[in-house]
This record gives sequence, structure tokens and C-alpha cells, in this order.
Amino acid sequence: MNEITLDVKIARTKIDRNIYGHFSEHLGRCIYEGYWVGEDSEIPNVRGIRTDVVNALRRIKVPVMRWPGGCFADEYHWMDGIGPREQRPTMINTHWGGVVENNHFGTHEFMELCAQLECEPYVCGNVGSGTVHEMSQWVEYMTFDGKSPMTDLRRQNGRPDPWSLKYFGVGNENWGCGGRMRPEYYADLYRQYGLYARDYGDNKLYRIACGPRNDDYHWTEVMMAQAGNDQLPGEPYMDGLALHYYTSVRRLPDGSREGSATQFDESGWIEIIAKGLVMDELIRKHSTIMDKYDPRQKVAMIVDEWGTWYQVEPGTHPRFLYQQNTMRDAIVAATSLDIFNHHCDRVRMANIAQTVNVLQAMVLTQNDRILLTPTYHVFEMYAVHQDATMVPVDVQSECYAFGGYSVPAVSASASIDDDGKLHITLSNANPHKDIPVTVFVRGMKGSTVSGRMLQSGAMSAHNTFENPDKVKPSTFTGAKAVADGLSVLMPKMSVVALEVA
Ligand code: AHR
Repeated sequence: MNEITLDVKIARTKIDRNIYGHFSEHLGRCIYEGYWVGEDSEIPNVRGIRTDVVNALRRIKVPVMRWPGGCFADEYHWMDGIGPREQRPTMINTHWGGVVENNHFGTHEFMELCAQLECEPYVCGNVGSGTVHEMSQWVEYMTFDGKSPMTDLRRQNGRPDPWSLKYFGVGNENWGCGGRMRPEYYADLYRQYGLYARDYGDNKLYRIACGPRNDDYHWTEVMMAQAGNDQLPGEPYMDGLALHYYTSVRRLPDGSREGSATQFDESGWIEIIAKGLVMDELIRKHSTIMDKYDPRQKVAMIVDEWGTWYQVEPGTHPRFLYQQNTMRDAIVAATSLDIFNHHCDRVRMANIAQTVNVLQAMVLTQNDRILLTPTYHVFEMYAVHQDATMVPVDVQSECYAFGGYSVPAVSASASIDDDGKLHITLSNANPHKDIPVTVFVRGMKGSTVSGRMLQSGAMSAHNTFENPDKVKPSTFTGAKAVADGLSVLMPKMSVVALEVA
């Protein structure tokens, strides 16, 4: 029996819109080609940023964008990315293919991108190879309103007013590419760097510490004890602790991954979906540790890197992480977003990696063309949950099993918006079977239900530049209002968004 029970009356926690956040790094063709084409490009652009990509991303209501990395952040020296572009020094992007980075996209260009997207900037500072002084000056450059050497420099570079910057990351993956540190060492560095990343005037930084990779619970334990503990003098020294978890078949010694994004059979389908669901266990266990030190939940869990990671597309640079995106990724996106919604008391931001042309992207570009991926469509369908109030759901689902894996076939989450409309998002991971689901709706008498669905006939269905609309949402007619709620026939391998009013 497949049943979902929800009670609108017990809804009380807001789903922070930032759960639908994004991450864009100086990696492969994400920044350059993906966003930045330069003011002289024939590709339509506004101040160097391509218009087609911005317009597409505005439609999914990107709330927050994390930049410049990733591993790149801990070797980025922000002063190289300001001033006249032709005079900016170059650097080698050692993590991502050893290519030359010309620094044409820097702080001003990133802030311009966020302005065009109408999203909040989330800047990640350099702890691994940068100094306290350098990080402190960057914050001063971006946010100080008075007169100082940094603000004079900013004015000289064409920006008299400070930007408003809330989210600031103090390093990235400092257990790995960000310095190979032990948590005890990083915790002290976090306290030091975080202190000198000052609040200027009304600009109050929301400091995000590097958190654990996957199931490294010791890292969380140490960070919460040393910097997230509400018994520390004053208050916790951090506002958020970042968790990174990628869904992949297998990580190879060189950091690359096994498994094609598009050439897989049913065992590859279920394996990735099952591994995506591990996110729930990770959030629960890290949250339990956080609760011990921060029972009032002042410190947020920020899942600022997540998504699927496969072998790169054949013929592309192995370190550019360019991959295609199928219905399998759509299911992982839907189930992950459901998980974040369920845990919205602690999870207050998540940033899928990496928006354009890298990993589980929303948009792929080829010269002057773009295509929208199945994951893009899931984000568009789920945008209704942004800042709505989460309605707890109890999902009783049959299992879908294949090979050594078994997962609940149906995933769901729900929210109620300011207009009193109930939004339920669901997915069916079973590639063979349509599943009838009874949804018991309590605390609300909805009489109309409408829906949209993302479905395609094949597990590996995806959009290409030749056929960009193969996978796209359509009207869903498989739900009807019944006495106690809804009766829904969930099509095989589909994602559905319902609105009940
Ligand atoms: O998103 C790609 C990389 O994955 C990031 O640079 C790094 O933080 C993580 O290991």
C-alpha cells in the first residue's frame, strides 16, 4: 500500500529558499563560456555575462550562488581579479586541468552576475593558501562603507558603494584540497580567520565553516565543540557548518569517477538513486552531533556541495567535469530536495554543483546554444517550496529493488505557501511500474488539484543540442481530489508537482 499522510495544521518550519541554492566554480567551462563571454562577444550579453543563461536561471529563481570554489577558492587570490581586465595577472588553475586562468571574472563580475540573477552572493574565502590579512581585506573591500585603503581601491575600480554580502565561507574542504588539515587545526584557523572577517556597518556576515566530507562525524564533532558550541563565550563562532556529499559509482585514486552519465543499465540506475538517498542518513547523523552542542539550532547545516558525479563526457577534458544529465539525475535531484525539505529545521542552505557545464548542471552550453537539463526542470518544479512552510509527510512506499539495492519507490515532500496553497512534490524511482498513491490530506479542504510532471520513456533520457526538449515538464492529469485527500497515479520514473487549492 502506498500512502502519504500529511497534516497542514502541524506545518511550522519555513523551507529556506536557499535550500534551492547553487554553486559555480572556476572549473572547466562553468564560469568562462558558461556565464562569462566578455563584453565584445557575439553571444548576447549584459556587461560580459551571457543573457541566455541568466534568463534560464532566473526562471528557476536561483536564491543564492556560491563562488569562486570549491578547491579553487583555497588558491584564489582575490586581488588578482580586480582592476582593468587586461592588466589582471594570470594564474594556473592547478586543481582543474592546469589551465591558465586570466582572472577576467572576479569580485565585480561575480557581484554583477548575482545582481542579474537577483540572488544572494555567497563568497568562499581562502584559508588553504591565503593569509588572515588577505581574507580580512577582501571582506573590507566588499562591505566597508567608510574610507579606507580597500574602499579607495574599490572606488577606483568603479564601485563607490559597498555590496551587501551575507554569506561568507571560511575555506573549502580544508580536510582535503583546502589544506589537508586535521579538524583540530582547522577549528583554530576557522576561529582566527572568522574573527578577522569583520562585520562593517549594517553588513552582518553569516560565517560558514568547512564541515565534513560524507560520513566524517569526527570532523563535525570537533568543529561543533570548538566553534559551534553554544557554551563558548559570547555565542557560537559560526552560523553554518558545510557538508559535502556527492553521489557517484566509485571515486578513482586521481579523484575522477567511474560510470557514464548516460550509458547505464538498471543496476546503474538504482545504484545512483540509492546512493543519493544516503543524504538522509548523513543529515540525521551530523544533525544529532550538532544538536548535542547547539540544541537551539543556531548553527545551520549548509550542504554547499552535492549532486551526481560521473565520468566526463567522451572527448572532453578529464578535469573539466563536463557531464550529461538524465532522468536518473532528475530523480536524485527530486529525492535530495525532498530530504532537504524534511530537514529544513537544520538545513538552511544547499548548493548543487555546479549550475553550468560542470557536474549536475542546470544548463549546458555549446557556443551560442544552451540546453536545459532534466535537473533544471526539477528545480523549476520544486521552486514553489522556496520560503513556504514545510508540511511534515509520512510516506509509506513499496520498495523498488534490483540487484543488491532496494529503495522506497516513492519519495515526497510538501509545503503550504502564503496563499494557502498546498504543494506536494513526488517521484517514482521504479522504471517499470506506475504506482497508485493515496494522499491523506488533513487540516485543509482542498477541492482542486493541478499538476505537472517530468517523465520520459527511458532511464537515460536526456536533452541534447540536437534534441533539447526531449525531457521537459508536461501537464499531469493523474491526480484527483477524493474524500480524504488525493488519489494519484505516479507514472514510472517520473517527478510530479501538485498544487492543491
Ligand atoms: O565540485 C567539484 C569539487 O568537488 C570542488 O571543487 C570541491 O570542493 C569538491 O571536492
